[in-house]
Amino acid sequence: MKNISEDILFAKSVLDKGNLVAIPTETVYGLAANAFKEDAVDKIYKLKDRPKNNPLIIHCHSIEQIEKYVKEIPKDAYELAKQFWPGPLTILLKKNNLIPDFVTAGSEYAAFRIPNHPITLELLKSIDYPLVAPSANPSNRVSPTKAIHVYDYFKETIDFILDGGDCIEGIESTIVHFDDGTPKILRPGSVTFQQLFYVTPSIEMNQEIQDIPQAPGMSKKHYSPITPFITIEKIDLKKIIKYQFEYPKIALITQKKDFISVKNIDVFSLSEKGDLNQIATNLYDTLITLDSKKYDLIITELAPEVGVGIAINNRLKRANNI
Ligand code: TXA
Ligand code: MG
Repeated sequence: MKNISEDILFAKSVLDKGNLVAIPTETVYGLAANAFKEDAVDKIYKLKDRPKNNPLIIHCHSIEQIEKYVKEIPKDAYELAKQFWPGPLTILLKKNNLIPDFVTAGSEYAAFRIPNHPITLELLKSIDYPLVAPSANPSNRVSPTKAIHVYDYFKETIDFILDGGDCIEGIESTIVHFDDGTPKILRPGSVTFQQLFYVTPSIEMNQEIQDIPQAPGMSKKHYSPITPFITIEKIDLKKIIKYQFEYPKIALITQKKDFISVKNIDVFSLSEKGDLNQIATNLYDTLITLDSKKYDLIITELAPEVGVGIAINNRLKRANNI
């Protein structure tokens, strides 16, 4: 594994040449390129096999930097930015001409975020361009939360992986849009509805969030393991055992410690006591790890539909693939 280390200067040199670097953030690892270089951005789409109509989040180090790239920051957006940046919040803002159309798939809105990770913030401050970075996984696969996940996906086909340890949040950023003046959550994420509501009480959860993709990448099926995968509302042993006719060896992921002992069903709990933040941190690592074992089916119990549980369930429901 020659291409993983904590060397920020080396990461900068790779990016300066128009090549790709996987960067750590507090949510998930991103696959980063110079936002101003079309051929560098192209490499992201090719490596991820990502449809060109799916735009990319622009990562910056400060609100002052973002102000250079947008027409305006609406008042509510500014309040959210001050409260949650650096942090797991992405805000769509009307871009100016400095942000190329190939970053936003032609949209007049660009997605901005200041990630809360010391290494990546230092990298962002050391360069004079912003970084576009989608999650560092092949399209439709589970987002990586450890440097080794990125390596296992891309091996040496990615130039460099900047190792910043494990991602603390473990689930992607919350995306907020201000198109008609009212803030709307397009993608539930690490920052919860309640946290946003506290700062901007007019915020709405997009009602169609489960059904109709709002952000181009929010297609219904997404973030999926390769292994057959299904979610259940709560642990129901009879139902689980029925699946064994078709899928003999099952991995069962529970939200809190559960004592189930059935032949050929292995149980993995995301958190001892059902702590939602711990569940979010462990979720993708558990999915990626179990996906590489030889299970016939992965069954995952849904989280309580509160706080970050809403984002967790949003991802889990869209991972169903049978
Ligand atoms: O936590 C995160 O947001 C991570 C880390 C690396 O920052 N990034 C991430 O990127 O999850 P990605 O590309 O996997 O998901 C970004 C989502 C996609 O659904 C994309 O369609 C949407 O954001 N998006 C990006 N730019 C947009 C734009 N200009 N308008 C609408 N949606 C946009
Ligand atoms: Mg993604």
